[in-house]
Amino acid sequence: LAASAASAVLAGIRMLVTSGPTHEPIDPVRYLANRSSGKQGHAIAAAAAAAGADVTLVSGPVSLPDPPGVRTVHVETARQMLAAVEERLPVDVAVCAAAVADWRPEAEGSQKLKKDGSGAIPQLRLTENPDILQTLSQHHTLRPRLVVGFAAETETVIEHARAKLARKGCDLIVANDVSAASGVMGGDRNRVHLVSPEGVETWAEMAKTEVASRLVAHIGERLKAAAR
Ligand code: CTP
Ligand code: CA
Repeated sequence: LAASAASAVLAGIRMLVTSGPTHEPIDPVRYLANRSSGKQGHAIAAAAAAAGADVTLVSGPVSLPDPPGVRTVHVETARQMLAAVEERLPVDVAVCAAAVADWRPEAEGSQKLKKDGSGAIPQLRLTENPDILQTLSQHHTLRPRLVVGFAAETETVIEHARAKLARKGCDLIVANDVSAASGVMGGDRNRVHLVSPEGVETWAEMAKTEVASRLVAHIGERLKAAAR
């Protein structure tokens, strides 16, 4: 009975999760990307589905299987990710765990860039990608009741996360230290701080799957508290 009660904390909740990197084409054979395995985002989608939510996962290119019980939409670029997300609105909860490329090449070459033998180096002009988390957080008509972002930081993790929370207007930031020494990137474990206007909650290091199920429980609590 305890298990079935715990498994239904998000029953009837529609949830969107972004996960993985995005790939921004330079030409037909090259792209610009972020380091991201998608493990944390996929684990959150799976945990939310296990908790009874109706989950859509919008995933960049990853080498993970689609999580069970989750509607998975595959995209490549940040602009495709935003379009796929907007297509699913309205939802109750959005969790943006994707490592979206902040910039993309201004123009995608239609043919492969070639070395011309002179040693000349191509100069890539970049342009900024749309911010999916910010678009959701500041949506005029279809803002989810709860918008959760991540912050990938290599230094002063909590300060940067607080600034992001304020700048983007989301309700909660899950901040993780992704410096090389932390082993978080590509690894199976994570150590996170939950940063919200109410304060900071630091969790012990644990498996990404465990972070996912605790985050889902935390989201359930927040929705319950907001409904009171
Ligand atoms: N994010 C997003 N769309 C973008 C960039 C980021 O949705 N174009 C989301 C990420 O999914 C994450 C949060 O914003 O939930 C923070 O991403 P992060 O890269 O840590 O922060 P940025 O705001 O991009 O700032 P910076 O990379 O300069 O630290
Ligand atoms: Ca970024």
